[in-house]
Amino acid sequence: MRRVRSVGVMFLTFILVYITGKIFIELENRPNDVKIFNLLRDVSVPEAIGLSANTHVSERFVHNVRCDELMKGSKSEIEKAKKIMQNKNYTRKAISDYDYIQLTQNCDKFKLDRKYNMHISEEEKQISVAYSILLYKDVEQAERLFRAIYSPNNLYCFHVDANSNQSIHEAVDGIAKCFDNVIVVSRKEYVVYSGFTRLQADLNCMSDLLRMEQKWDYFINLPSQQFPLKTNAEIAKILKIYNGANDIEGITGNRRLAHRFTFRHIYKEEPMKNTKLRPFKLNQKKEDPPFNITVVKGSAYGIFSRDFVNFVINSYQARTILDWFHDVLSPDEYYWATLNYNHQLEAPGSSFYKGVPDKKPWLAVFVAWGGADSCAGRFVRGICIFGVGDLHLLKEKPQLFSNKFYLDYQPLALDCMEEWHRNRSMAGLSSDFNSTFYKSLPFIKPSS
Ligand SMILES: *[C@@H]1O[C@H](CO)[C@@H](O)[C@H](O)[C@H]1NC(C)=O
Ligand SMILES: *[C@@H]1O[C@H](CO)[C@@H](O)[C@H](O)[C@H]1NC(C)=O
Ligand SMILES: *[C@@H]1O[C@H](CO)[C@@H](O)[C@H](O)[C@H]1NC(C)=O
Ligand SMILES: *[C@@H]1O[C@H](CO)[C@@H](O)[C@H](O)[C@H]1NC(C)=O
Ligand SMILES: *[C@@H]1O[C@H](CO)[C@@H](O)[C@H](O)[C@H]1NC(C)=O
Repeated sequence: MRRVRSVGVMFLTFILVYITGKIFIELENRPNDVKIFNLLRDVSVPEAIGLSANTHVSERFVHNVRCDELMKGSKSEIEKAKKIMQNKNYTRKAISDYDYIQLTQNCDKFKLDRKYNMHISEEEKQISVAYSILLYKDVEQAERLFRAIYSPNNLYCFHVDANSNQSIHEAVDGIAKCFDNVIVVSRKEYVVYSGFTRLQADLNCMSDLLRMEQKWDYFINLPSQQFPLKTNAEIAKILKIYNGANDIEGITGNRRLAHRFTFRHIYKEEPMKNTKLRPFKLNQKKEDPPFNITVVKGSAYGIFSRDFVNFVINSYQARTILDWFHDVLSPDEYYWATLNYNHQLEAPGSSFYKGVPDKKPWLAVFVAWGGADSCAGRFVRGICIFGVGDLHLLKEKPQLFSNKFYLDYQPLALDCMEEWHRNRSMAGLSSDFNSTFYKSLPFIKPSS
């Protein structure tokens, strides 16, 4: 008995020495200018030995304020959070592009340190989502979005603006090479605000994703400033209810801003300014669109079935219509809607909704608009940048995503969304998830 115990003690001592030695070596090898974050402070024993993915534990990432209270809309906690942010008395360290380049040298460690969930729930097995994530700066924000929506059963395509700094490309390359189901787009566009290349960026990802061996059911395009309101399990459940139908916003009539597509636009450098291109309107009318289609406006973002994406990339009609959109202002806000709501085109996934486009509920992304919605953060170009006082309303929204958060504006807002979302993801699909609402949507494909 005694012998057995002392062998056990020796064995434990050996493991302890081994682990301590390893940590010491890692610290030794770390270049001086790389910040040490999370690694030592946050890693608890189960996480250190890699159990975190399968033990369904909730966590607290944020220590300055109580995120659970913010999510309930507690006035005193909101005030406290604002005060902390105003005083800049806020300890969360930024993760630089350089940090990502370093961290992703060791993929296993990266996934562990950043607490990637490598577990697939039953719900998530049923639907595979292909995402595109568009970014030009702030790798940290894109990576935090990616981490929240990560599931081994999904596919991800990063589009980094060709204009972005080299370190951003390298950081994203580093992240992508750590996952079998993540790619960097094969052709990077110089994204021009309101320009055609913004649309082309999504098309490039769509086409790369279609070519991947793993098949997927839905495509969702995201800019890095969005954050999910639903967990992966919930998204899978909702898309299963959609059953092949697209969820694309449709705006007809006068709200379409017709000058954008009745006149031609060309790209020029801003006079007397930097070298950035931007679209300018010409006094030249555009020819009528092909196939006698009506131009419909919508959002640049949506939820697209695989068959729809295949139609977009490979059909003669969609390509011809795309050509017509080359000199339209903000074609990304017209192309999906126009394909989806011209029923003579028979775009896959578009036919289940028979009503007026403008009346169709649209659940891809919640945006708070100036003049229409409340905003506890601040409006930038008519869109609310969410603050800590918006969170309790956001969590009640039926939309899958929310737009938008800034990394440097009320950062506790995104931090707490992250903690809330993480807790819910770890808990699995909760029994209080109410699918009745989604099952009664007028645009889904009825299940046979
Ligand atoms: C997440 O879970 C932890 C542990 O249960 C809890 O302390 C924290 O308040 C939760 N956060 C949110 C936003 O619900
Ligand atoms: C910053 O936070 C610390 C600990 O939470 C607190 O003791 C200190 O008073 C705060 N400083 C300011 C300027 O709010
Ligand atoms: C690229 O790097 C330069 C110099 O470091 C910096 O001033 C600029 O803001 C960076 N651009 C972006 C988009 O991050
Ligand atoms: C073109 O579409 C309009 C309605 O949008 C319809 O009235 C007209 O008959 C169509 N013309 C042709 C040639 O199909
Ligand atoms: C679920 O949602 C439906 C419609 O939105 C509502 O009528 C119903 O009361 C909800 N059920 C529960 C249990 O909350």
